[in-house]
Amino acid sequence: MSTQEHSEKAGFETRAIHAGYEPDEMTGAVIPPIYATSTYKQDGVGGMRGGYEYSRSANPTRTALEGVLAALEQGERGFAFASGMAAEDTLMRALCRPGDHAVIPDDAYGGTFRLFDKVAAPWGLAHSPAAVSDVGAVRAAIRPGETKLVWVETPTNPLLNIGDIEALAGVAHEAGALLVVDNTFASPYLQQPITLGADVVVHSTTKYCGGHSDVVGGALVCRDLEVAEKIAFHQNSMGAVSGPFDSFLTHRGLKTLGVRMDRHCDNAEKVVEFLLDHPAVAQVIYPGLEEHPGHAVAAKQMKRYGGIVSFRVNGGEQHALDVCAKAEVFTLGESLGGVESLIEHPGRMTHASVAGTDLEVPADLIRLSVGIETADDLIADLDRALG
Ligand SMILES: Cc1ncc(COP(=O)(O)O)c(C=O)c1O
Repeated sequence: MSTQEHSEKAGFETRAIHAGYEPDEMTGAVIPPIYATSTYKQDGVGGMRGGYEYSRSANPTRTALEGVLAALEQGERGFAFASGMAAEDTLMRALCRPGDHAVIPDDAYGGTFRLFDKVAAPWGLAHSPAAVSDVGAVRAAIRPGETKLVWVETPTNPLLNIGDIEALAGVAHEAGALLVVDNTFASPYLQQPITLGADVVVHSTTKYCGGHSDVVGGALVCRDLEVAEKIAFHQNSMGAVSGPFDSFLTHRGLKTLGVRMDRHCDNAEKVVEFLLDHPAVAQVIYPGLEEHPGHAVAAKQMKRYGGIVSFRVNGGEQHALDVCAKAEVFTLGESLGGVESLIEHPGRMTHASVAGTDLEVPADLIRLSVGIETADDLIADLDRALG
């Protein structure tokens, strides 16, 4: 049995390291080389070698990444894109037509909301926001015959609301729609939506999958071949593909996803404990807390609760901005999921584009992406920043 065949049945970390690639036949290279080539020599007209003719259509470094993404999410096929937004845009065009409708989270990542509101809506795709934690609200937002996608994030960004993937898949399928799950916050290590009934998984691989804040990328993984063919056609037609160097970096990141995620979770749990006891903190939002309204569902569908912690401070927006400014080990910056800890003010930063809409986030909210540094240093930094 080849390493790759073996890895299909293997545990998560084995798949992360071996799926999608066999050591190179000619050189024995253990790691997929960066195929920095746009085109491929053909053995006569139409005589492609190994399925490669032009790197927008396929490139071996990207193929290796796409294989491991599919194996980790337990889907039929994976696709790698230039960014999470490129993946989302391609998916929307592949599965919807003008006149269709989608249900989206009422606290979606700001960029996702902007894509639906400012790009997809003028194109003709209508959308209705609904709370992903409320299956009844999602069902009520569906327009029979028109809704083609029920699109959820779980946990959501930045409020960490939890959607019940199995129940939402049931609701979407009853209405003849597909369930799309943005799995960026959980990563495939903590949650595998396709095994719970989702049709397509979306990732900003810029986050935990890449894991080192050194590459922007996106991914789609789907459960069946019909959807795969539509995505493949649109990926090639729209061309927002992951380049070979980016694919290499993302693939390298995925190999250590399991060990990184466990450390992210360990550190996040320690940070949560510290924040719960701090007098300047008004509320800690983390799905691992029993009082979190989505805790029971998260416990059912996630391995652990992730590295993102959101909290509200006493003293309103100004205090939240001061804390962000004073933190030192936590770097003030957008994005998440890298080895280094980040702090941000969603209202003024990642979610500024939803200000004034129903999706606006509280002004006293701070989001932490807890990294894999020494936990005591992270806690001391927050203690100093909170004053
Ligand atoms: C949940 C979620 N989905 C999608 C995206 C978009 O991904 P990218 O920034 O790689 O385009 C982000 C980016 O922050 C995100 O947080």
